[in-house]
Amino acid sequence: KPRIVVAASGRGSNFEKIAEAVSTGLLNATLECLLVDRECGALEIARNFGIRSYLLSKPWHKSFDEIIDQINPHLIVLAGFMRIIPENLVEKYFPRIVNIHPSLLPAFPGKDAIVQAYEYGVKVTGVTVHIVDKGVDTGPIIFQKALEVDESWSLEQLEEKIHQIEHEWYWRVIRELLYRPFEIVGRKFRWLDEEGL
Ligand code: GAR
Repeated sequence: KPRIVVAASGRGSNFEKIAEAVSTGLLNATLECLLVDRECGALEIARNFGIRSYLLSKPWHKSFDEIIDQINPHLIVLAGFMRIIPENLVEKYFPRIVNIHPSLLPAFPGKDAIVQAYEYGVKVTGVTVHIVDKGVDTGPIIFQKALEVDESWSLEQLEEKIHQIEHEWYWRVIRELLYRPFEIVGRKFRWLDEEGL
């Protein structure tokens, strides 16, 4: 079975959906462990699922690298991990680090993307899943899902809709990445079979 590692810094709702998909067999992979850089909700979710977790000691990137080196996972899944992966690690693991971002990149990179999009007043936003490269939220795009913003929505309502999309799709994209051939040419990601996602 392919091995995956998840890194998170927050609530862990995306991690939870991935753990669920693994435990129900929808995602045929071994969830080796959770890595966090701070005390956060994701740790409790790991406990509930009986998944090993590590609170990264400082400097976080050194322990991150050491743990990942030992596990040698097929995929490193960032799920709300609020750190920039240093260049040397990106080089070492490319294209095996994947990230989810709550906007249609390249719009609203960085922190608080949902708030940024809401305050900007966009009529369409969404979710992006991409391979991590040396930039911040710049890597090859694997998947995007658009969401039309109803002008009556509060920020909280928009957040909820975005999270619903993330929860529905992230584990599916991970599954595809583990089981389908792909290539990256320049900054373009492309599936090598005909199915499309
Ligand atoms: C998610 O919305 C994820 O897209 C976002 O953090 C949230 C984590 O929620 N990530 C970023 O903004 C990365 N730049 P969660 O802890 O409940 O999964």
